[in-house]
Amino acid sequence: MDEQRKPISRSDFPADFAWGTATAAYQIEGAVNEDGRGLSIWDTFSHTPGKTDNGDTGDIADDHYHRYKQDVALMRELGFNSYRFSISWPRILPEGRGKVNPKGLDFYERLVEELLNNGLEPYATLYHWDLPQALQDKGGWKERLSSEAFADYADVVSRRLGDRVKGWITLNEPAVSAIIGHVEGRHAPGEHSIEAGVRAAHHLLLGHGLALPVLRANNRRKDAEFGITLSTTYAEPGDDSQQAQEAAILVDGFNNRLFMDPLFKGRYPSTISNLLERYLPIEAGDMEKISAPLDFLGINYYFRTLALAVEDLSAVKVKTRQVQGAQYTEMGWEVNPEGFYNLLKLVNNDYKPAKILITENGAAFADRLEEGQGQPAVHDPDRTNFIRDHFEAALKASREGVPVKGYFVWSFLDNFEWAYGYSKRFGIVYVDYPTQRRIVKDSGRWYQNFLRG
Ligand code: FCB
Repeated sequence: MDEQRKPISRSDFPADFAWGTATAAYQIEGAVNEDGRGLSIWDTFSHTPGKTDNGDTGDIADDHYHRYKQDVALMRELGFNSYRFSISWPRILPEGRGKVNPKGLDFYERLVEELLNNGLEPYATLYHWDLPQALQDKGGWKERLSSEAFADYADVVSRRLGDRVKGWITLNEPAVSAIIGHVEGRHAPGEHSIEAGVRAAHHLLLGHGLALPVLRANNRRKDAEFGITLSTTYAEPGDDSQQAQEAAILVDGFNNRLFMDPLFKGRYPSTISNLLERYLPIEAGDMEKISAPLDFLGINYYFRTLALAVEDLSAVKVKTRQVQGAQYTEMGWEVNPEGFYNLLKLVNNDYKPAKILITENGAAFADRLEEGQGQPAVHDPDRTNFIRDHFEAALKASREGVPVKGYFVWSFLDNFEWAYGYSKRFGIVYVDYPTQRRIVKDSGRWYQNFLRG
């Protein structure tokens, strides 16, 4: 840590900035069998032996479903003005489509009320990977049916909450759903086919395109805003070779452009068209729907990628390299705020979004709860440095004209990190799982002080 550096604070950023943290339903809620919730593909996947570390599931997670009041109170204490959460589709529509479960809607209404009463603006993500299993049984995102069902679901939720939600995010990281879920198979639904991945990518985008006008039509809040969240990486060739160049183009193509090009340009990227064309299930009018204007683009950024060579083209597999002396998180991700700055510049230059919200950024480190005699504490200087350095990178980009208007640190609480189960901790608040105690980490206190100025 560079102690000499002038500390940054909230006042360095635009006044109307959204500050908060992000979470996702399946990662924190628990209560999977309560109040009429249906099954999601993550229930199925996590309960399949060998799919998650230690066989972990989201059955209990952070028990946020029962503790949301206490959690919102803590957010208020830490000084945030916004919160990004996701809504569980199978709580609202246990069969994916058709019969609505009123208790599911009630839960999110209570949560939104609690947020507003505590001075926090709700940013709701409609899809953070928990597709109703009933839809998966009909082919899931490989089929157009899911795009249509998603628009119906968006309708049901926004009829109830369209007067209170400030920010609507249709999808979280469709690239991860499509590629990790359908090509690499490390996430639900665990398929291994490029065709499935490309079909899923298109139907996810189409779902977004069908839901967006529905959300806008049901909105009753003047200052509400609508967007989508994409995962990103800053891809660079790991050496001077032609191979590395090609590998970087593939990484950038599948992680960034596969979604940004359709959303902002109404077409799929030419850099990877050879892998896409024969599988894309495009119908007349789809690309127009997908490219309807957005109020903001949500960017999730964690690491850059140094690509060396394409290992297996049809599996979108690339050989990468590490940097000697660089710091890596518990996920094996390089800490590289410069890549974040570069990525923001790239997105702004190539796509010119009206506004950018950083909807996720954060780091997993091996935290240790210290109980001692005094207050329990978690000293996590690596995470504090990570957050501060990435805030600075965003600030630098913002000063150069990139319209960054909000920042949601991933994550509020330690939680179920998908295939890694509970083995990776991303929270700025530590969760002692056996007791469900919440202990604010030093990074959380740093964020609090940053916001106080
Ligand atoms: C993102 C996901 C989020 C979390 C972080 C670490 O890809 O959107 O749920 O798992 O990574």
